Amino acid sequence: MPETRDTDDPTLRFSATRCLVTGGAGFIGSNLTRALLAAGAAVTVIDDFSTGRREHLPEAAGLTVVEGDLVTVPDLADRVAAVDYVFHLAAQVGNVRSLSETGRDAATNVLGTVRLLTACRGTALRKLVYSSSSATFGEARRLPIDEDHPQAPESFYALSKLTAERYATLAAGLWGVPAVSLRYFNVFGLPMEDSEYTGVISIFFNRLRAGEPLVVYGDGAQFRDFVHVRDVVQANLRAALHGAPGGVYNIGTGVTTSVRQLAEAMQEVTGRGGEILYRPARAGEVRESVAEIAKARRELGYAPGFGLRRGLAEMWAELGGDGTDGSAPR
Ligand SMILES: NC(=O)c1ccc[n+]([C@@H]2O[C@H](COP(=O)([O-])OP(=O)(O)OC[C@H]3O[C@@H](n4cnc5c(N)ncnc54)[C@H](O)[C@@H]3O)[C@@H](O)[C@H]2O)c1
Repeated sequence: MPETRDTDDPTLRFSATRCLVTGGAGFIGSNLTRALLAAGAAVTVIDDFSTGRREHLPEAAGLTVVEGDLVTVPDLADRVAAVDYVFHLAAQVGNVRSLSETGRDAATNVLGTVRLLTACRGTALRKLVYSSSSATFGEARRLPIDEDHPQAPESFYALSKLTAERYATLAAGLWGVPAVSLRYFNVFGLPMEDSEYTGVISIFFNRLRAGEPLVVYGDGAQFRDFVHVRDVVQANLRAALHGAPGGVYNIGTGVTTSVRQLAEAMQEVTGRGGEILYRPARAGEVRESVAEIAKARRELGYAPGFGLRRGLAEMWAELGGDGTDGSAPR
């Protein structure tokens, strides 16, 4: 019997639950951890702080932070046995990084996931939500990209994310681990990091703050699907409640934004116009990508609500706009 899908705030269902968040000090993980704490959940974060930061997390009575590598951290099975939900976000993130730090990428993303799935085996866990990636699709062969689009990784990172996703699906079938995978598209929001996924947003913000013109490579018509981190948090909560074990869901907005549109929107939001400079396209850099999210809407009740403009305006305000507060975007 499929669970009844609620259309209300999913956070209401996490009060007094116990949750484990791997990678909880990172960009998405810290947003998720805050949402769970606000909902009244007790949260344990496991993070090695390789890219995550303690200051991304609040000082809260319901929060336990365990510093350690997912591959080796002690007592993992006990920690999993003590929770209702696991949200698995710990990963070495980045296509380019995986070309030089390939072993570390495979260790964290594949072996870390296998270790976690093994720890989940035979427990009463209600759900494990794995953070997969649209990178697993490789170059789009058709648009929008639905869940059945071929997955053809073009980097070791994409390969490790896909491998872990397949482990999660098989662990659902072979071991009964209630694992669900979410394939995020380009996630943006605060805390702003210079990630490959949203690098263009932080680069543009930095240039606008410095009063420099925006530089677009190519004609700017290349497009992506930017999804706000709070919508990704919502997707995680809904997947934990309603995701079908072994299921995979695309998490984006279904809205395309070209780099030119992004540049213009950011000029508008910041009130800083000026010239946009166009430079020759850089080889192999930008893909065209947009998610088909009908499955997540239907099965999870997922409904992205933070448009790009609203998200950008919020980021600009938080970042201190003109930088007079002295804080610089990372
Ligand atoms: N940001 C995006 O646009 C995007 C898109 C698709 C998928 N994802 C996936 O979402 C997840 C979160 O990504 P993010 O953007 O928040 O990145 P992030 O780098 O901010 O978060 C990853 C977190 O994992 C931690 N970590 C890394 N290796 C670890 C290890 N061995 N043991 C314990 N902790 C470890 C890091 O310190 C960090 O806090 C990742 O699994 C990533 O693959 C992100």
